[in-house]
Amino acid sequence: MPRIAQETVEQVAAASDIVAVITSYFPLKRAGTEFRALCPFHQERTPSFFVNPSKQSYYCHGCGAGGAVFQFLMQYENIDFPEAVRRLASRAGIAIIEDELSAEEESKQSLRKRLLRLHFETAAWFHQNLLRTKAAARARSYLQSRGINIETAKRWQIGYAPKTWDSFVQWATAAGFVKEELIESGLIKLREEGNPRSRIYDRFRDRLMFPIHNDFGEVIAFSGRVLEPKAPGGKYINSPETPLFSKGNLLFGLHQSKRFIANLRQAIILEGQVDLITTFESGIQNVVAPQGTALTARQASLLRRFADEVILFFDADAAGQKAAERALEVLFGAGLQVRIGEMPAGEDPDSLIRTSGSEAFRARVESAEDFFDFQIRRNLSATESKTTAGRVGFARKMARFISIVPDLVLRETLISRLAVRLTIPRETLLQMVHLSIRQLQDRTFEEEVVTSQFSLPRHDLAVICKAALIFPDLLRAIRQQPWDSILTQVAGAELLSKICASPLEPGEPASIAAFFASLSKEEAAALSLLLAKKELNEQMGHLFWNKLVSAELQRRKRRIENVLRLAGENPAAQQQASEELKEILDLESSFTDISRLPSRAS
Ligand code: GTP
Ligand code: MN
Repeated sequence: MPRIAQETVEQVAAASDIVAVITSYFPLKRAGTEFRALCPFHQERTPSFFVNPSKQSYYCHGCGAGGAVFQFLMQYENIDFPEAVRRLASRAGIAIIEDELSAEEESKQSLRKRLLRLHFETAAWFHQNLLRTKAAARARSYLQSRGINIETAKRWQIGYAPKTWDSFVQWATAAGFVKEELIESGLIKLREEGNPRSRIYDRFRDRLMFPIHNDFGEVIAFSGRVLEPKAPGGKYINSPETPLFSKGNLLFGLHQSKRFIANLRQAIILEGQVDLITTFESGIQNVVAPQGTALTARQASLLRRFADEVILFFDADAAGQKAAERALEVLFGAGLQVRIGEMPAGEDPDSLIRTSGSEAFRARVESAEDFFDFQIRRNLSATESKTTAGRVGFARKMARFISIVPDLVLRETLISRLAVRLTIPRETLLQMVHLSIRQLQDRTFEEEVVTSQFSLPRHDLAVICKAALIFPDLLRAIRQQPWDSILTQVAGAELLSKICASPLEPGEPASIAAFFASLSKEEAAALSLLLAKKELNEQMGHLFWNKLVSAELQRRKRRIENVLRLAGENPAAQQQASEELKEILDLESSFTDISRLPSRAS
């Protein structure tokens, strides 16, 4: 990685107020001398994410995330340090000074930079063509016919690529860009494919041009729509994959919509860029669109950073349904909840808003059904629903989706709800889900998809996990307590949470096997290692569980003391802190020393 000069880093840090930067992602509430919010890095119900303006740092008392403004960006945007510095520098208008680079780094870095510059200037050139040139008269009237006015065209920097073979090549050359750059940018094509010596010509000709931005707002590619219905090539042509642009990593519109998505924790997924622009401009702003391709896992996890829930609006035609089907897998896989939006036949969001107004589309957003409800209503036939066999068969299809959900608690909820809806035994559905998980793992294994590293839990957690798998009474006792209120905030407790949430019966080999099957390869390996380790007795499990609970409750109480101290004279903050303290004390009172419970419960 190129080294950014220390002086630049310091200058950027000084120019980037952490409160201002974080508020550009989600709102913060004042709490005494600090600011607070629900932590973006873990799931929680009461806010434990604090931002301290005098220290210019943030800290989450729940999950331990913390640092300065750079760390926040790195964590939130999932980028490395130099990239975080770069983004903040550009936000503050600071030029980056880089220390000496290796020749190779230099050329890679500068190619990227030059390509960004080229795209930036090209977007402006296309845009000016649209606004100013005679040749673009038809493009302007086309825009008008689609209800896109000048302000909108400006906001999205819509442009026009002239109807010639080399206007762009000539302009770019005159502007000082060289042939190699133009080739790398994908904005031109080679007369003889693969031969960089052959002559070049414009890729986009006589098309309405939509710049494609990364979520940081830099132009990295273009999408061009035909004006002439009979013109050769597809209705839309996109830039090819380039060093700047990878279709599957990108969601159209996200640079504009991400703060709206983050505020609502909800994203509306549309099919096309025109749909997106129209919807956004009509005031429904938490929208994104994949670039006319199947949604990828990368795009889904990009969305997951901003949203908990998505609403899918795909065309009712066969292609749209196919795309929706594939999108579901990656969305569930990313841990997003899914609702399905329906459009009147033959309409897309753009046409609906044009003909019936934005309220008509908003009503569709609001009435979008939960995915499983939608499936039951739409795809469970009357005959199927009359017989148990029919409903079980239908459940099998749904089990596949549930099995993809990574969050165990969400998965359990879905299983219970669907079982009730279909009036089939929960156990039956659970078995189907487990079967599907196993098939999924085989597939994952074959495809060598890299799953996240899973390490052994720390010592006390390891002891409790192991004891819980061996001693039925211990696990039963833990399950009788509000264990998840404690474990959600204990780092590394995922495996123990899964054990508690699972229907596992300790000591029952079949049940343990089923539980293993529900784990990822890494988790299963970690767990077998645990079980292989030296013997332990039930008493140790009790002891460590009690300790874990009281340590965690202590930690929360200390945090409240801190908050109270910092709240000073602020009555609202005091009030909130004392409410939280009460919550903690209530929680505490629902724990009893489990080693004293009668060992033959139930
Ligand atoms: P308009 O006709 O301009 O309203 O576009 P649309 O968004 O309604 O078109 P459609 O529903 O047919 O396609 C949805 C999205 O798929 C578009 O926005 C494009 O991103 C993409 N798409 C459509 N046609 C093509 C094509 O021929 N080639 C490519 N690469 N993408 C296309
Ligand atoms: Mn359309």
